[in-house]
Amino acid sequence: MTLNDIAAHRRSIRKYNGQPISREELETLIRFAQEAPSWKNMQTSRYHIVCSLETIAAARQCLGGSNPQKTENTAALIVTTFKHDIVGHTNGIPDNEGGNGWGWYDLGLQNAYLLLKAAEMNLDTLVIGIRHANQLRALLQIPEDETIGAVIAVGHRVEDAKRPPRKELDDIARFY
Ligand SMILES: Cc1cc2nc3c(=O)[nH]c(=O)nc-3n(C[C@H](O)[C@H](O)[C@H](O)COP(=O)(O)O)c2cc1C
Repeated sequence: MTLNDIAAHRRSIRKYNGQPISREELETLIRFAQEAPSWKNMQTSRYHIVCSLETIAAARQCLGGSNPQKTENTAALIVTTFKHDIVGHTNGIPDNEGGNGWGWYDLGLQNAYLLLKAAEMNLDTLVIGIRHANQLRALLQIPEDETIGAVIAVGHRVEDAKRPPRKELDDIARFY
């Protein structure tokens, strides 16, 4: 599969078939995510991987809006976080206006790698931003020095999803 094939195959999937995925597959995803670049190679991204059926059920209750329904039969939920006040900071002082935005940036880069690797492995994903961070923190005892980012559902699709349209290149890019 070329990178174009992988990107075309990857879609946000909101209906899973309940087929389990192995610990080895989950470790492969995280290891590949680690290959993403990060600010001064500080690698502040962290992963809290929920794969037991009982804890998945509890974690789904920490998702907001209609996301609990959308994650039905997911094989795993990965709560992604980053250790804050490190990236984009020197001695605890922000290096520029980005501040902890750079920690979010690094986490997003790693998460993108994870999504693409999953697609290559025929696994499907959904990035979930509408979630209750405090509930997830309490459930999984996530340390206070970690900012909670997206939750990523991982599983196998029931059916293909349509590609939502993308903006025109002229709308998003300017060449100088
Ligand atoms: C940061 C982020 C947060 C998102 N949060 C949600 C969410 O809470 N619920 C949901 O159903 N989809 C969520 N999505 C998925 C987007 O809706 C989806 O990526 C977009 O519609 C494009 O579709 P595609 O991923 O199939 O290309 C999120 C995506 C990103 C990157």
